[in-house]
Parts: sequence; structure tokens; C-alpha cells
Amino acid sequence: MDESLSSWLALREPADFAARSAILAEAIAQRLDAADPVRVVDLGTGTGSNLRYLIDHLSRRQEWLLVDRDRRLLAELSGRMRLWAEARGYHVSSDGADLLLRRDGRECRIQTRVMDLGALSDDEIFRERHLVTASALLDLVSDRWLCALASYCRANRCLALFALTYNGESYSVPREREDDAIRALMNKHQRTDKGFAPAAGPEASASAARAFEGVGYEVRRDRTNWMLGPESEELQRELIEGWAHAALEMAPENASVIRDWLARRLDHLRQGLSRIVVGHEDLAAWPPGA
Ligand SMILES: C[S@@+](CC[C@H](N)C(=O)[O-])C[C@H]1O[C@@H](n2cnc3c(N)ncnc32)[C@H](O)[C@@H]1O
Repeated sequence: MDESLSSWLALREPADFAARSAILAEAIAQRLDAADPVRVVDLGTGTGSNLRYLIDHLSRRQEWLLVDRDRRLLAELSGRMRLWAEARGYHVSSDGADLLLRRDGRECRIQTRVMDLGALSDDEIFRERHLVTASALLDLVSDRWLCALASYCRANRCLALFALTYNGESYSVPREREDDAIRALMNKHQRTDKGFAPAAGPEASASAARAFEGVGYEVRRDRTNWMLGPESEELQRELIEGWAHAALEMAPENASVIRDWLARRLDHLRQGLSRIVVGHEDLAAWPPGA
């Protein structure tokens, strides 16, 4: 596992939870009320953040399949889920490789699967699922992948909920004159191939909306921006350094300008002056009559 990915996911989780659309989560939960148990697949699950957010929105009995290509992230997931659930009063046990969480009549069975979703060449993981979900994934995937996903959801009548898709927008204060140029380089980097063919990047949410509307689904979108202040110093630092790194990859000839910008942004951060808004969207979609 990329250690930095694991710590990045842990670092961003509180900001993700603060930003996510409870309205869209509830719109999905209401439409799944009759499913017992409700069967969910989470794509690109990482260490299971999306499950930790949704578990209390969904009905009492849940069965989750958590899919990621990173075997070590999935191995870390079960320890993190256990700690998280025990701290919230769940009784945690194992049934073979599955993890079982129980609390106040609520029961959640969790399975993990190592799988590269890049090709998405059949719908096996969607069969008999009520909900297909993902968080912080859609900006990595391609338009074509989104069309395949939408048609697999349609074929299996799955509802869909995709959280925290980056939309290409960010605003930082104090302003620096290079902010817009760095964002443009970062957005260009977002469109490179992340293992799913050239990524939809900042267009991903719009592209997902077109794909799901194209198969007759009703689509709802909601803004879920990160609003980061001085309390999120570490997350801001990782973000700023990540932007600089992406910009350097796209424009190595501008290295000295980018490094100078980075030094000034980190200086604002050290002084407690830095605030950053990062644009995200959540998207929910359901088939006619759901
Ligand atoms: C930005 S992380 C989001 C993780 C998690 N959903 C969250 O919100 O914390 C993207 C995740 O997608 C996974 N991923 C990337 N490419 C993948 C692929 N081709 N197949 C399966 N998983 C993939 C990564 O390993 C990573 O866990």
C-alpha cells in the first residue's frame, strides 16, 4: 500500500463527513427502506470511509461488498472498522472473512474484495445489489467507464450514490497571483489516465449525470465543498503540496515559480491565515419508479 494514500484518507475523512450531502443520502435511504437486508457495493472503498458515513443513514440490516484494487488498504480496513465501530457501541465479530457489526437491532455484514475496477467488463459485483456507491472516486474515472457503470446499474436496477467528486474549483486566501494558473495545471493533471483511461476529472459529475440520465435515471446533485480553516492545518498542507506536485508534473519548466508559490502558501498556513475551499459534488441517481 501507498502509506501516504492511507494517511491521506484518514486525514480527509472528517472534512469529507462535514461536507457530504445528508439530503442525498436520505433521498437514497428512503428509496431503500423496503430492502431487507439492503445490499450495497462500494467501489474504490479505500479503508471504508463511505461505509462509516452511510451506515447510520441506511436501514437496520445491511450487507456491504467493499471493493478496491489495493490489497493492503483492504487489510487495514478491518482494523479501522473494528476500532471505529467499537467506539460507537457496536458489537464487532467475525464470520469467516466477513466482519459483523451489531448494535440496537442494527446489523451490518462487511465483505471485502481485491479487484481492479479499471476495465469494468462485467456486472458481477452489481448483481442483486440495491445500491452502488463510491466516494472520492468519480474524478479518477473516464466518460466511457461512467457509461458502462450507468448501464450496469440500469440492468440491475441499482440505485447510485457518488460522494465528493472534485469539480475543478478551489479558492484560497490570502490570494496569490499564481493561484489560478496552478489550479489550471492541477485540473489538467486531473484529466490524465488514473487507471480507467483518460479521466473525466473536473467534468466527472456532469459526465455521470449525463450517463445516468441517458439510461433513464432521475439524477440529483448537491454541492459538497470542503471549507478548510486553520483547524485543518495538516489537511491544507497535504492539499497545497499535492497541488504543487501535480503542477510540477504538468509544467516542470515552471518549477521555480511553482516552488515559490508553494513556499508562500505554506507560509500563510504557518501563520494561521490560510483558508481553502475545494469544490466537490455528490450525485444520487435512481431508476424510474424507485
Ligand atoms: C481517493 S481514494 C477514495 C477512497 C475512499 N472511497 C474514501 O472516500 O476514503 C480512491 C480509491 O480508489 C482506489 N482505486 C483507484 N483505482 C482503482 C482501480 N482501478 N480499481 C479499484 N480501486 C481503485 C484506490 O486504491 C483508493 O482506495
